[in-house]
Amino acid sequence: MTETSTTASGTGGISSEQQAVEQQLVETVIASFDKAEDPRLKQLMQSLTKHLHNFIREVRLTEDEWNKGIEFLTAAGHITDDKRQEFILLSDVLGASMQTIAVNNEAVKQTLDATEATVFGPFFTEDAPEIPIGGDIAGGAAGQPCWVEGTVKDTSGNPVPNARIEVWEADDDGFYDVQYTDGRVAGRAHLYSDEDGHYSFWGLTPTPYPIPHDGPVGKMLEAVGRSPVRASHLHFMVTAQNLRTLVTHIFVEGDPQIEIGDSVFGVKDSLIKTFDQQPAGTPTPDGRDLAAQAWARTRFDIVLAPAEA
Ligand code: BEZ
Ligand code: FE
Repeated sequence: MTETSTTASGTGGISSEQQAVEQQLVETVIASFDKAEDPRLKQLMQSLTKHLHNFIREVRLTEDEWNKGIEFLTAAGHITDDKRQEFILLSDVLGASMQTIAVNNEAVKQTLDATEATVFGPFFTEDAPEIPIGGDIAGGAAGQPCWVEGTVKDTSGNPVPNARIEVWEADDDGFYDVQYTDGRVAGRAHLYSDEDGHYSFWGLTPTPYPIPHDGPVGKMLEAVGRSPVRASHLHFMVTAQNLRTLVTHIFVEGDPQIEIGDSVFGVKDSLIKTFDQQPAGTPTPDGRDLAAQAWARTRFDIVLAPAEA
């Protein structure tokens, strides 16, 4: 089908009279947006109409199925509030979030070789504490200590001093602090790169955990035999003057969930990092005394694209 065509595919076996009725409706609805003043809004609404009608016609949607779809969206609305966003979750599990990121970041990886982006997820908060370089983000969260270090550079290879690095992650039980009801702040912090663009901090070795699956999206995943589990990851958001803000994660090489599949399709090969296990007693980079505890270390060198990329 061409970009401008509105004819439905998959209508074989449907009489030409019936096809004409259906086609007439699509064209009438598309034309109803002709007078929209904003050309981009007009394009979005007309294209949405075309694809939605094409879907309905292609699958020969029953009225019962249409009702179930409306019930699903209604339930998603009811469970959504300022803490829970079921529609973003739906976008995530349909791959729509990652597709939007792909569409908007073509140059970042292909041309500029900057660090790739991935989904934001629902668990970022604005008010994470500041830590010094080498500080600890755990704030009492359970998990294996993990030393994370790297540099922030621009695409010409210049170090980026004073980049704001936000990091957040789930604890060993698979929960973010905001999922507990006791108001704790744990497993999150922000820090700034030094004059050479270096940063380091103590985090927790990431472990797999499920996206919130007690609502309509979780029910849908169950009905289609899909797992809600995400590959183990540590979130980053990096901002610096005149450079493009990077929202991404790093994933753990060897995590079986990468092969099984990440429930929101967020894994990119360039973001899979080695997390080297260090046996108990191995000296730590900053002299921290971890007593008899094993720990891990990883490196994530970040390249930020220009702001206009
Ligand atoms: C997360 O990374 O925590 C997440 C991402 C997308 C949907 C739900 C959770
Ligand atoms: Fe996450």
